[in-house]
Amino acid sequence: MAVPAGSRVVEGAVRARASGPLQGTVEVPGDKSISHRALLLGALTVGEIRTSGLLEGGDVLRTAEAVRALGAQVARIGPGAWQVHGVGVGGFREPDDVLDMGNSGTAARLLMGALAGNPITATLTGDPSLRGRPMKRVTAPLEQMGAVFAGRSGARLPITMTGSDDLLPIEYTLPVASAQVKSAVLLAGLAAPGCTSVTEPAPSRDHTEILLRHLGAELEVATLNDGARRITLTGQPELSAPAGGLELVIPGDISSAAFPLVSALIVPGSRLLLRNVGVNPLRTGLIDTLQDMGAEIERQAVRTVGGEPVADLQVTASRLEGVRVPPERAPSMIDEYLVLAAAAACAHGETLMEGIGELRVKESDRLAAIADGLAANGVAVEAGPDCLRVEGCGGPPQGGGTVTTQLDHRIAMAFLVLGLAARAPVTIDDAAPIATSFPGFLELMQGLGADLSRA
Ligand code: S3P
Repeated sequence: MAVPAGSRVVEGAVRARASGPLQGTVEVPGDKSISHRALLLGALTVGEIRTSGLLEGGDVLRTAEAVRALGAQVARIGPGAWQVHGVGVGGFREPDDVLDMGNSGTAARLLMGALAGNPITATLTGDPSLRGRPMKRVTAPLEQMGAVFAGRSGARLPITMTGSDDLLPIEYTLPVASAQVKSAVLLAGLAAPGCTSVTEPAPSRDHTEILLRHLGAELEVATLNDGARRITLTGQPELSAPAGGLELVIPGDISSAAFPLVSALIVPGSRLLLRNVGVNPLRTGLIDTLQDMGAEIERQAVRTVGGEPVADLQVTASRLEGVRVPPERAPSMIDEYLVLAAAAACAHGETLMEGIGELRVKESDRLAAIADGLAANGVAVEAGPDCLRVEGCGGPPQGGGTVTTQLDHRIAMAFLVLGLAARAPVTIDDAAPIATSFPGFLELMQGLGADLSRA
């Protein structure tokens, strides 16, 4: 599926320079996690789902292309407005070709779950970053349910899988809090008779659960004594959209809002209004952490849209103090540690981030990337196997470094944010990956006053 007209991909090196105050009102693109789920669950639903605010980034377009190859009708009717006519649970047809999931772990892992309940064979692959990421965490529970996988060592992509129309329901305990793995098991559980339950050690984002309920599935959620959470799904529901279709409004992505938000905090004199940002409490760990650091962030006009809490965020440049970020907060801000590190580099005192070993298996080894990128820009930093200590500069960091983006959109954006507050420019070697999650990022930031230019 072609990238929609109007999407911009800036290839090659980009440089961020110390900027004057950032000012203005912006809306960031739609939530990536919810956009994937809208397309996938739309494909498993009988009837029509219409979205507004769907993220038209590279990752989500891969999901759109994949569900179309599996028989769903998917049409773009306007910017962010997509229409999906699903085939129902178990109704996928065998794809003619390999399904290329690009850079997207969410697309690949959720799709494996959705495919498991179909008696067809499909091969999934991805870009070099995705082909390096662990898939065993998804294939292990799906194998228990009856799907069959043949992949490279460590169950890495490309993987060929054959699903089954006779899946078994399971009770599965996740070894790590992962919304992707939880969602894959729940999506497979849709096709299994009886109840499938997933216990997660700590609550992770619950967009799958919210959307499943919206479409008529029965789910029970229990919080256990040790803080773990168990989600039990009754299998083989009739997922259906009401006559006339279901309108799904997708809020702005807090993981994208994080970049202008932190920029406004660290560029002196800035004040921004970020409108229509999803503030699901299982996603807002960054806001909590920044507020612990002394950040002035005000939630305005809090409302519920499509079952998800949404707010406008007023952000004012603030003096930040280093803090300890506890391990139990990690699931609610797992994608935000890179940009938090930019804030920590400008703060007064030390920031210690604990329990973040999962960062090592994201689009890149993000723990190593933060440590290398900060060190290249004169910030004292120490990385452990699952923790990171950043010595704040108490003002503008030195800067002057070049950072390798490693096909990782969030490395690219986080270090450009750092450069807006640094004494010397910060350069990233390739801005192209940004389009996977935040098309138009450079233009949006320039519009607020950020000094970003091709290097
Ligand atoms: C996501 C879950 C998280 C997150 C990813 C999106 C999702 O991954 O890092 O960007 O949409 O379910 P894990 O489930 O691996 O923690």
